[in-house]
Amino acid sequence: MRLTTLIEDISGGVHDLVPQHGLSFLIESRDRTVLFDMGQDGTFIRNAESLGLDLTKVDAGIISHGHYDHGGGLSSFLACAPHAPVYLKAGAGEASYARDIRGYRYIGLDTGIVAAEAGRLTWISTDTEIFPGFMLITDILDPEPSPPGNRALLLRRQENYTPDPFLHELFLVVDEDDGISIITGCGHSGILNMVYTAKERYPGRPVKAVAGGFHLTDRETPPQLVRYIGKALKSAGCGRVITGHCTGSRAKEILREEFGNRFTAVFTGYSTWI
Ligand SMILES: [Fe+2]
Ligand SMILES: [Fe+2]
Repeated sequence: MRLTTLIEDISGGVHDLVPQHGLSFLIESRDRTVLFDMGQDGTFIRNAESLGLDLTKVDAGIISHGHYDHGGGLSSFLACAPHAPVYLKAGAGEASYARDIRGYRYIGLDTGIVAAEAGRLTWISTDTEIFPGFMLITDILDPEPSPPGNRALLLRRQENYTPDPFLHELFLVVDEDDGISIITGCGHSGILNMVYTAKERYPGRPVKAVAGGFHLTDRETPPQLVRYIGKALKSAGCGRVITGHCTGSRAKEILREEFGNRFTAVFTGYSTWI
């Protein structure tokens, strides 16, 4: 498969691409192309054009969870790829908030667009193979605790804010002859939980790569926890770690120490064959 980063927080100095807090991966495998996350707005389309990539032929869009930095480009995508369905996990339309010293900030999807485009959206609540070899995993095991960085992330129900258990998160497994690749948006459910879930679904299959944001934010995540996660990813047999977005810079350095040249910090425009 080929993975191309259309949106990521960091500029890699590639062409005139525009970085943005968020994530968007274009994933090509066999004869299918899917867009996994869409950043905050239509910037991913401009970046794709700069890279010479045609998004009008994308077969499907996927929104990993109900946060604006992954699904904010929804209306742009629907206009760009008029025949592509968009998959989300049930609950991704709920009101998500982040709490900081200034108070509560809405970080959910644009509910007006979600309502207006209902006919184009496919809400799933069980594991779903959208094309041969493209499996969306919704039922995520939880032997490990969720990332400490989730603490300030909440759902608003009626007038109450409650901790977000991230039941609205899914991840993608791309299954190919030589193994599986695990693609995540923010990894709010815990990257180890996702890897363990994928390994249970695909017993005995090599894990070629884990790619996406791991939500190991510098401020909230103790270095020893990142070290533990890095060693556990190695023990689980992950071939490559390809990460960025909400994976903090300290976490990236620790994971680089663990994985050496099998580690990549992604940037806007980064593309690789897996
Ligand atoms: Fe994110
Ligand atoms: Fe998120």
